[in-house]
Amino acid sequence: MSVVDRPGVTGMVCAACGTEVAIGDGALVCPASTPEDRRHVLHFVDSVAPFRPLDAPNPFVAYRTYLAVDAYGAAIGLDDARRLAVIEDLDDAVARVAGTGFRRTPLVRAGHLSDALGFAPAGGIWVKDETRNVAGSHKARHLFTEMVQLLMAEAAGTARWGSGPRPRLAIASCGNAAIAASTIARAVGWPIDVFVPPSASPTVLTALESLRASVTVCPRSESGPPGDPCVLRFRGAVAAGAVPFGVQGTENAWCRDGGRTLGWEISDEMGHRADRVFVQTGGGAFAACVGASLRSSGVHPMLHAVQAEGCAPLERAWRRAIATGGVGNVGARWSECMWPWEDEPVSLADGILDDETYDWIGVLDAMAHTGGSPVVASEAHIVEANRLAHAHTGIDVSPTGSAGLAGVLAIRNRIADAERVVVIFSGVRR
Ligand SMILES: Cc1ncc(COP(=O)(O)O)c(C=O)c1O
Ligand SMILES: [Zn+2]
Repeated sequence: MSVVDRPGVTGMVCAACGTEVAIGDGALVCPASTPEDRRHVLHFVDSVAPFRPLDAPNPFVAYRTYLAVDAYGAAIGLDDARRLAVIEDLDDAVARVAGTGFRRTPLVRAGHLSDALGFAPAGGIWVKDETRNVAGSHKARHLFTEMVQLLMAEAAGTARWGSGPRPRLAIASCGNAAIAASTIARAVGWPIDVFVPPSASPTVLTALESLRASVTVCPRSESGPPGDPCVLRFRGAVAAGAVPFGVQGTENAWCRDGGRTLGWEISDEMGHRADRVFVQTGGGAFAACVGASLRSSGVHPMLHAVQAEGCAPLERAWRRAIATGGVGNVGARWSECMWPWEDEPVSLADGILDDETYDWIGVLDAMAHTGGSPVVASEAHIVEANRLAHAHTGIDVSPTGSAGLAGVLAIRNRIADAERVVVIFSGVRR
C-alpha cells in the first residue's frame, strides 16, 4: 500500500546514521548500534495528515492507525480485528492491575495559576494532568507500545523466542518508568528485572515489590567500569537475552510510539490554539514524542525542552549544534553535540537527571521546526513551580512533573500575556 492509502507509520530510519529498517522487522535498535556505541536512534517515518482520530476514550484505540505498532502488526500479518484485540486486551489487563486503563487525560486552563502568573484572560497556562494516567505518570504510555509490539510478535508467531519461554524484561530506573514498566509487565505476567540505584526511595521500592518486580540495587564501585551502574547492569541483562523495557529510544525505539499519544491528545483538544508547549526533559523520549506528534498532526506550537541547571546536556547540545552548522540535521554530529554531563547531576526534579539526553535528535528537530528553544530552569524556579502547582491547581504533582512550569517561570518575561501555554504535569508526588 502506498503512503496515501494508509496514513501512519511506513518505516524506521536511524536519525544518526541514516540506516533504513522495514517496519515489519520489529527492530528495537539501529542495526549499527552496539553495546559499546549506542549513538544511534531509530525514528518512525510517518504521515498522519489528515489528522482524523476515532472518537474513542482510549488513546491507543483513538490513534491506532497512526501508531507504529499497528503498522507493525499489519506488516507481520495480523488483520485489523486482531490488532485491535491485542490493544484492548492489554488495556483490560492493565486496568485489572492499575485500577484504570488508558484514558485521555484532562487538559484544562488553570485559571488561578494563569492569574498568579499575570496572563490575560485570552491566554494562560493549560495543564495536562498525567498524574491520573496509568501508574501515576506519562511513562506508561511509552511502555504500553513496547509491550504491544512484543504481544503482536507473539500473536503472529514471529517472536524470537518462538513458542519457548519468554525472555525476562529489563529496565534501569528508580522511579516512574520502573513502576509503569512493572505495572504493564504484571498485567501480562511477564517477569521483569528492575535495576535501581541505592538512592531509590522506599515508596518506589514498596510499589515495585507489590508489583512482583525483581529488584536489583546497583551500587557504584570504585573498581567498576565507568558509567551508571544501573545502566551497565541493564545492558548486561539485555546482552544475555533480556528484552530492553525502558524509556530510552536508543535502547528500544518502540517507546517513542505510544508517547506520541500525548501530542495527539493536545492537538485534538487545542488544535492551532496552543502557542507554546514546555516539556521537562531527562532522557528526552517524552519531549521527542510530544514534538513529533504535534508536528505530525499539523500543529506547531513552539516546543521548549526544560532542563534543570544541575543537569542540562540538551541545552549544551543545542549550543554545540549552532556552533557546528545549525540546529537542523544534527544526526551526524552526535559526538560533537551530545555527551554525558560531567558533574554529579543535582535537582529536586530528580526524574530529569539523566546525564545524557538519549533522544536529543528528536527534541532538537522539534525545537528547530517550531522556532522553540531549550530552557534551563534555576533550582529556585523548580521549587517555586511545584509550590505554585500545589497552591493553584490542586494536582498532587511531583517536582519533576511540574518542571515544565519552571521553564515558564524562567522565560515568563519573554511570553506575551495573551499567549496560550501548555505544560504537562507528568507525574504524581510519591
Ligand atoms: C514525571 C516525569 N516527567 C518527565 C520525565 C522525563 O522524561 P524523559 O526522560 O523521557 O525526558 C520523567 C522521567 O523519568 C518523569 O518521571
Ligand atoms: Zn544508526
